[in-house]
Amino acid sequence: MVTNNLKQHLNELVATHGVLFTKLHQHHWYVKGPNFFVLHEKFEELYGEVNEQFDEFAERLLTIGGQPYSTLAEYIEHSSIEEAAYDSAIPAEEMVKTLVRDFNILVNDLEKGIDLAGEASDDITEDMLIGYKTSIEKHLWMLTYYLG
Ligand SMILES: [Fe+2]
Repeated sequence: MVTNNLKQHLNELVATHGVLFTKLHQHHWYVKGPNFFVLHEKFEELYGEVNEQFDEFAERLLTIGGQPYSTLAEYIEHSSIEEAAYDSAIPAEEMVKTLVRDFNILVNDLEKGIDLAGEASDDITEDMLIGYKTSIEKHLWMLTYYLG
C-alpha cells in the first residue's frame, strides 16, 4: 500500500517532467531582450537536466513494478505544473518568475516523494529524490538572485 502511493507519486513526477520539458523549450525559443544569450542557454541547460530526470523517474518506476505515463495527454492530466500557449510576448523576467514558481511546486513534490519513499523503505528512490531536490534548490537560489 505504501509502495502504491510512492508509485503514483513517482508517476505524477513523470507527468510533471513531461510538461516542464516542453515549457522550458518554449522559454528557450521565445525569450527576448538583452539577456537573450544568458537565458536561452540557461533554459537549454535546465531542459537537459529535466529530461534526464524525466527518464530516471520513469525507469525507476518501471524498476519497482510501476507503469509510467507515456502520452502527452497523460502528462497534462497528471502534471503538478501547468503550461500556457505562447500567443503573446512574455517578458524574460516573467519567464524566470514562472520557472521559480514551478520549481517551488516541484520542490514540494520532491519533499512529498522523499517522505513516501522513506515510508516504503525505498532507499534508492529516496536518494534519487534527495539528490535532485538539492539541484533544484540550487537553481532556485540562482534564479531568485537573477531576479534581484
Ligand atoms: Fe536550441
